[in-house]
Amino acid sequence: MISLNVNGKVYKIDVPPDTPLIWVLRDHLKLTGTKYACGIGECGACTVHIDGVAKRSCVVAVGDVQGKRIVTIEGLPKNHPVKRAWIIEQVPQCGFCQPGTIMQVAYLISKTPNPDPEKIIKEMDDIICRCGTYPRMKRAVKKAIELLRKGGGK
Ligand code: FES
Ligand code: FES
Repeated sequence: MISLNVNGKVYKIDVPPDTPLIWVLRDHLKLTGTKYACGIGECGACTVHIDGVAKRSCVVAVGDVQGKRIVTIEGLPKNHPVKRAWIIEQVPQCGFCQPGTIMQVAYLISKTPNPDPEKIIKEMDDIICRCGTYPRMKRAVKKAIELLRKGGGK
């Protein structure tokens, strides 16, 4: 039995410890905001936070994250500056890649106290959006930083 802390709740799940985290999130916990795309840690669609750090849940085994705090897109507060900025700038097209992208940006702005938006965008080079929403993402990252400065952490 695997014990996982997801979005502040503890779950017991009967899966082998080498099961990728994404399948437990989506199939067992029905947290389907986390998306599966490449499955090899290359695109970012499945990004979640593990103990506050952005990780790709398709290449993380559940056995390795027992006792850690996992946060998915559903657990990121509704009024989080990145979620607000994404709505203000109307970033998504099909939307498939966006939960992972938002989790990646939320992590980047949380670890960078005085973020230079261009540097953050460089750090996001390996996020893949098949719809090509990058110009809107770029505007939204700047907006999220502005909202973060104005309104504090959340
Ligand atoms: S699905 Fe995990 S990085 Fe692409
Ligand atoms: S919005 Fe469609 S893949 Fe990014």
